[in-house]
Amino acid sequence: MRKKVKAISQYLTFAAFGVVIMSSCVSDPDSSGLEYTPDMYRSPAIEPYVDYGEVRGKENKEAKMKQSSMRPPHYTIPYYGTDEHKMAMMLPYNRLASSAANVSHGLYEHEGWRLSSELDAEYNNSAADKNPIALSEANKDAVFARGKKLYTSMCAHCHGEKGDGEGPMVKSGAYAGVPDYKNLTNLADGQVFYSIYYGKGAMGAHAMMIDKEEIWTLVHYVNKFRFDGYGDEDATGSEEEIEEADAEEVSEIEE
Ligand code: HEC
Repeated sequence: MRKKVKAISQYLTFAAFGVVIMSSCVSDPDSSGLEYTPDMYRSPAIEPYVDYGEVRGKENKEAKMKQSSMRPPHYTIPYYGTDEHKMAMMLPYNRLASSAANVSHGLYEHEGWRLSSELDAEYNNSAADKNPIALSEANKDAVFARGKKLYTSMCAHCHGEKGDGEGPMVKSGAYAGVPDYKNLTNLADGQVFYSIYYGKGAMGAHAMMIDKEEIWTLVHYVNKFRFDGYGDEDATGSEEEIEEADAEEVSEIEE
């Protein structure tokens, strides 16, 4: 008798185990079947712009009425892929902000910017910086087309479609002091970059709206206004520089 009970209980345990195992199987090949620990497979979706003040009926005073998305820590570098040329271009900008950036940083806080103690020193030093996007016959149309697109959406309302400083903002009388690019032939490319990045005078900084590749692309585009025939043959630089423009970058920009 005892043996029988033991055998039955063993059988039942085995059967119950089998039922549990089998119950997780379903015929639908797209279904994972019954999940025993769904929280481990799927973490709850975090929505950055949601108020997490109350989650599942539980009040969380600390998070209440606060935007939960965080800015990445300062000096962290986004991942831009493995193209070394692009990586080098995207490294943190090595120039300090001039103290003038304090008044021209625009709408955005510039927390994390290291200010140079001398007003214009870094602006002047930036004249030595070369545009890492070398123009070539192969890429210039794509670079200018991309520059035009950026310029139309980010700059033309002040600087004007023709770069004459007569954008709709200026014409409306709301804004003044926008230069005609034609009068800026003495600026080096690096300074144009610096001014777009950190802002200058009444122009706000653009560092947090467009990335460095986009700014260097704009530098080329602005040069079209500054110098007649910019981008035509010899005006673009030495043969060597042209050869440096690698094919990868061209395809990147054309995308
Ligand atoms: C809100 C209006 C406004 C917008 C938008 C704006 N600018 Fe400017 N920009 C100005 C003003 C004003 C100046 C003159 C600043 C000064 O010299 O004090 C200026 C100056 C410049 C200069 C000359 C900088 C120097 O070092 O003298 C360049 C180059 C330039 N802007 C490019 C751009 C580009 C490219 C964009 C778009 C990404 C842009 N700006 C967007 C108003 C604007």
